[in-house]
Amino acid sequence: MAELSLTSSKILRCFYIYTVFILGSCANPGDYKPTTKNPKIIYEEACSWCHGQDFGGTVRGPSLIQNELKISRIRKMLVEGNEKMPRFKHLTGDTLESVINYVAKLK
Ligand code: HEC
Repeated sequence: MAELSLTSSKILRCFYIYTVFILGSCANPGDYKPTTKNPKIIYEEACSWCHGQDFGGTVRGPSLIQNELKISRIRKMLVEGNEKMPRFKHLTGDTLESVINYVAKLK
């Protein structure tokens, strides 16, 4: 009996660690760290999951081509985020600027 409860607590602990690991690795897309300055690739890697491969939006995020987006709006979303859109704290400097310009020109 003692043997059995030891086993089940081990299983529980494994499950717990596994859950924390999975959540920790997928929960926050805003933790994305760019490995390139190419905004097209950054979009693919960090934004398309929510805003769509064709920029037309998904259930997770709105279209980025339906209406003209102001530079200031795009910057604010990336730097500050809001309750639904993660902020991208590792997008900074030239890389941030190139993503902002890329998104502003999407059609
Ligand atoms: C986890 C999903 C998710 C990811 C990843 C994501 N976004 Fe968003 N984004 C959203 C949601 C949801 C909104 C709508 C927020 C609102 O309206 O309050 C939004 C809004 C925006 C807006 C404002 C759109 C508008 O009509 O005003 C811009 C610009 C934007 N995102 C750009 C980006 C860029 C660029 C990236 C990649 C670096 C990105 N997003 C990654 C979910 C996401």
